[in-house]
Amino acid sequence: MAKLLIDNITSSCSLSDYKSYGGYTALEKALKLKPEEIVAEVQKSGLRGRGGAGFPTGMKWSFIAKPEGVPRHLVCNADESEPGTFKDRYLMQHKPHILVEGMIISSYALGANTSYIYIRGEMMFQFHILQNAIDEAYAAGLLGKNILNSGFNLDLHVHCGGGAYICGEETALIESLEGKRGNPRIKPPFPAVKGVWDRPTVVNNVETIAAVVPIINMGGEAYAKIGVGKSTGTKLISASGHINKPGVYEIELGVPVEEFIYSENYCGGIKGGRKLKAVVAGGSSVPILPAELILKTAKGEPRLMTYESLSEGGFATGTMLGSGGFIVMDESTSIVKNLFNFSRFYHHESCGQCSPCREGTMWMEKILRKFLEGRGTSADIDLLWDVQGKIEGKTICPLGDAAAWPVASAIRHFRAEFEEYVKNPQNIKDVRHYYRLNNLQEL
Ligand SMILES: Cc1cc2nc3c(=O)[nH]c(=O)nc-3n(C[C@H](O)[C@H](O)[C@H](O)COP(=O)(O)O)c2cc1C
Repeated sequence: MAKLLIDNITSSCSLSDYKSYGGYTALEKALKLKPEEIVAEVQKSGLRGRGGAGFPTGMKWSFIAKPEGVPRHLVCNADESEPGTFKDRYLMQHKPHILVEGMIISSYALGANTSYIYIRGEMMFQFHILQNAIDEAYAAGLLGKNILNSGFNLDLHVHCGGGAYICGEETALIESLEGKRGNPRIKPPFPAVKGVWDRPTVVNNVETIAAVVPIINMGGEAYAKIGVGKSTGTKLISASGHINKPGVYEIELGVPVEEFIYSENYCGGIKGGRKLKAVVAGGSSVPILPAELILKTAKGEPRLMTYESLSEGGFATGTMLGSGGFIVMDESTSIVKNLFNFSRFYHHESCGQCSPCREGTMWMEKILRKFLEGRGTSADIDLLWDVQGKIEGKTICPLGDAAAWPVASAIRHFRAEFEEYVKNPQNIKDVRHYYRLNNLQEL
């Protein structure tokens, strides 16, 4: 089992520990290569963005515009606010130098001399660990001028966000980095052409940038041999919910979902031996699947932890690997309550720029609340379906889709549960209590 990112993780925080495990050898190797040779290695590796969309990293890098005399930037997206996802903060907390090393190699490949790590504002603990690693790297000549006598200069800054989910969307992140309100930009132009201060910019996830280190160490071809098909390499999975062993696991892409849930090497099975009801496989934004569809595809094949296998069947019977936020729900879970929670989150986090998202997320929360208060009707199920359909694909950024997909999939696979709320109103106290606890205004 390949472990490329979180091996020896408990003792790799300081520069000396990281170096004792072979840290910064990839940088030495990379600086002897031409930037375009590094891009080629990343292309060969088949690495896909680990932030959620799974876009091929080498291809993204090859798109960066190179106008004469205009600086370029690399921005690391460490905003990690997707409910159910906590692998980036784990990596930064336990192995900060792998991100710093990845940032230096990737900046060199892209021709960037000033790069940024945009970290979620609440993650102050990880911010200090990262800043400490950067200070150590400057002191050791790994950052700053003429890195390891290569002639390459790089300044690396960590920028704290204000804790808004929308600032994880790459163009909102860029706005926020520039000191403005984090509203997503209309694309095109894409960041590769006009990013930070209108300069060519690549935005990549923490895990994506960290993965560049083993790719350079082992070579793109060897990396591509790990995994299955177009899902190459390893992936960090944040496992949570009703499982015996929640945590961050580095898996080789291709592990069967059933093995991931039940094996002692990973989640260790469902708590209390209860039955599996549903899984949200890639963070709150991806469609929820019932047990029978997460363990096997509609064709009856075992579902694998890969981009392709998880999306097999489209949204009718499939889902997405997304950011790898794997939330397991046992038979005691109320899908409607869980969905209310997610919808409340998206309503709160919508930036408000696009009316379908601003208004639609509010309506979805309102309608779901009706069910929990025992006021829901069968017509409300259809209304909810209608509202989500009026958000999906109609907004500047994919936050609207992210809000709509969980609603659509919950109705698609668990409609009977909504009907049960209509027939047997219950849990009225629960939701009022929830609002009181959180000091929230009633809608
Ligand atoms: C609402 C929203 C929130 C997002 N949050 C994050 C995030 O916290 N971290 C992240 O890496 N990507 C996030 N993304 C995806 C980014 O826009 C972008 O695709 C990603 O940073 C690209 O990096 P990658 O190619 O390495 O995956 C988010 C997207 C949306 C629409």
